[in-house]
Amino acid sequence: MAKIQKTARLPYHTAPGTINEKDTVSTLRYDDVYYDHYVGRVSAIRQQSSQTYLVEGEGQVHLGLQIWNDDIVRFFFSYGREADDFSYARDPKAKPQEAAIDLEEDPDGFVLSTRTLAIRIERADASIRITERGSETVLHAYAAPFYSRFTLMHGLDQMRLQFRTDPSEAFYGLGDKAWNTDLQGRWFENWNSDSFAYGKERDALYRTIPFFYGLREGKAYGIFVDNTYRSCFDFNSHSDGLATVWTDGGEFDYYFINGPRLDDVARRYHDLTGRPELPPLWALGYHQCRWSYYPETRVKEVAATFREKKIPCDAIYLDIDYMDGYRCFTWDPEHFPDPKRMIRELREDGFHTVVMIDPGIRVDPDYPVYSDGVERDAFCRRSTGEMMIGPVWPQECVWPDYTNPRVRDWWGTLYRELYVEQGVSGFWNDMNEPAMFKVTALTFPLDVRHDYDGFTGDHKKAHNIYGMQMTRATFEGLKQLLPAKRPFLLGRASFSGGQRFASLWTGDNIASWEHLALANRQCLRLAISGYSFCGTDIGGFVDEPSPELLTRWLQLAVFHPLMRVHSMGNNTDGAAEVEADEVKEAEALNRQDQEPWAHGGQHTDHNRKAIELRYRLLPYLYTAFQRHVETGIPVLRNLFFYDQVDPLCRQFGDQFLAGDDLLVCPVVEPGNKSLGVYLPKGDWYDYFTGKRYNGAQKVRARLRADRLPIFVRAGAIVPTVDVVQHTRELAGADTLNLTVFLAERGAGAMYWDAGEGYGYQVDQFTKRSFHLRQQGKSITIEQEKSGQYNASFRYANIRLIGLEHAPGRVEVNGSLLPHSLQFDRRSASVVVPFDFHKVVIE
Ligand code: NOJ
Repeated sequence: MAKIQKTARLPYHTAPGTINEKDTVSTLRYDDVYYDHYVGRVSAIRQQSSQTYLVEGEGQVHLGLQIWNDDIVRFFFSYGREADDFSYARDPKAKPQEAAIDLEEDPDGFVLSTRTLAIRIERADASIRITERGSETVLHAYAAPFYSRFTLMHGLDQMRLQFRTDPSEAFYGLGDKAWNTDLQGRWFENWNSDSFAYGKERDALYRTIPFFYGLREGKAYGIFVDNTYRSCFDFNSHSDGLATVWTDGGEFDYYFINGPRLDDVARRYHDLTGRPELPPLWALGYHQCRWSYYPETRVKEVAATFREKKIPCDAIYLDIDYMDGYRCFTWDPEHFPDPKRMIRELREDGFHTVVMIDPGIRVDPDYPVYSDGVERDAFCRRSTGEMMIGPVWPQECVWPDYTNPRVRDWWGTLYRELYVEQGVSGFWNDMNEPAMFKVTALTFPLDVRHDYDGFTGDHKKAHNIYGMQMTRATFEGLKQLLPAKRPFLLGRASFSGGQRFASLWTGDNIASWEHLALANRQCLRLAISGYSFCGTDIGGFVDEPSPELLTRWLQLAVFHPLMRVHSMGNNTDGAAEVEADEVKEAEALNRQDQEPWAHGGQHTDHNRKAIELRYRLLPYLYTAFQRHVETGIPVLRNLFFYDQVDPLCRQFGDQFLAGDDLLVCPVVEPGNKSLGVYLPKGDWYDYFTGKRYNGAQKVRARLRADRLPIFVRAGAIVPTVDVVQHTRELAGADTLNLTVFLAERGAGAMYWDAGEGYGYQVDQFTKRSFHLRQQGKSITIEQEKSGQYNASFRYANIRLIGLEHAPGRVEVNGSLLPHSLQFDRRSASVVVPFDFHKVVIE
């Protein structure tokens, strides 16, 4: 099936600049010679094991097919030989499940069926078409046979899948693309890139998540392409009804994930690529960061101001300037003479210290991390054998090869002093695309070699997983060092599956209203692409936010699992040895502080209120996070996850559900008095006023400066606590608030544990589900419990929202509770024992 091209040509769907277009036919020598390869005509489908099949074609492209389970089918295309079954992305715990498979053959092809899907393989060219079993609904149909290109000069340089779509199909996912919610009509590139001050048009960004959802005629499916090379995803950008995915090489190992609901796809994608562990509770508190807080007195001053102004905060970050000459794992002795004491004192005041660790290690024979790494042969080498040396913060750096298990183990041990001896609580792995200064490529040359866990490869293959393997090395190292502690790690570059190791933030954004809208989209997109634990630099990294912008950003970020203010500050004094001019220019503009009190007066009050809301909602958010960890349902979901057939939910796709019950309507424009929002089917309450609305209607919400419009699903029971200044104060909290948004039927949940450690993986948690019934004037709330954790809560303060009449009596577990009810217009509250079984209010 090889075809020799006489002339170099620009293949359909190739990103500009990847091929030399010059036609040199006249010389009878060519810049390159291209061979197109296909699976070719299929003679048979051979079963290799119970659920894997080899499609035997005449061409040189191998196609293996694995029925992963009834709803996931894996296709692995490889050129020249059968694919190795190795994946960084797949969770080692993910295993295929038994499925009942039928294989039928007819003159034109073969059909493999599971309980839910029918996969047809055409005999003529191995084209695939997937339909729902027993129906004609087509979910995935090739528009052209799978193609791979081998060139004389570059070897295998393209693998291409092309399938049919139409403009009515919506595409979601792909990680943090700074684009509209629906990806239809554009193409996107995946190549982890340091993206300082990126804008809406910029692509690729920091990370690669080659997974997307398609939603057509109300049915959802997902495609996850487990290939680490540079890849492109084109969603009908030529309006020709074609969607194309191509990679710059490797094995094209992809999974078709069935819906039909978007939630099903999300869950199944997480089953394949894994879910994070529960973070320590403090990590869900508010974090304060800046490039950079130093010296110690400044760090202490910031911390003290939080307490003085009564603005809750749990974490304070130290950016690169805490280091001694940008040497990772060291402290600047002048600015931080006694880090252990400082960290202890901060901890006593309720602050966790998080510090940055970069992958670029300073070349300096007197620096033990460098010399030890050299001795262990831990650093990346070029194809010629010498070490890869390049500029980041120091002029000359080397980089550990995190794709080598031996190097990962070593890297993990380097955290000992900071983590075990000095008490640092969490780490921030930055610049791990890997970013390199001075060159327009922003990263390594492609000839750099990597161990790739024994499978070996060049940087073309390893680039996109470098950052993920760095966070893996850090995460696994931290677990080894302090096995009883839940690590907190924030990372920048990553790949599908990296959610198992680190939380993410969206990198160097800008203090602009456009970026606030992007922050919302990027976090939603990350959450539905596997990364629920994500956040943005609140207020913007580059430039200075207006008071209104900072407040609106904080109000939005209340619902982002990682709530962290970060800004670039002015670093001209402690300037790095190497800095891009653009960084220097931006620094000059960026003098303003970005702490929540930066703008003073009522702005401080609004910002405090936003952060207080975050702390009130902690039980609700922690419960949503725990559900995510257990099931893979993202913590944040666009409105269309709630109702994927209602076109208005797609139109209002920037509104989102935080957890199951809260509907958040971000305000991403300045100065508006009101906002048009859409309430989908079902009834809803205004979270703040308790006003009830019918769903399936557009509503104009009046805007207030001190909060966003937030609605709650009728029937929801939302667990909250009273405000604390940091999460350690919750250890003694005696009252859990349960706000019941009345409906005929309803439910709520609350998960709680020690907030730290792994006792919860045995039985040290308490999980409560609440069931609500309202019949006439009688309201019943029942509670079911599981787990053995003895929470500090003694009381549940039940507040009913949406009452028509003042209730007269309260019964707890069958006994009347005297003088207990407080009624105020449409709401009433009553305090009952936390462990109640049944409360009846009439
Ligand atoms: C780049 C990161 O994106 C940013 O957050 C950090 O402040 C700087 N590096 C300096 O470490």
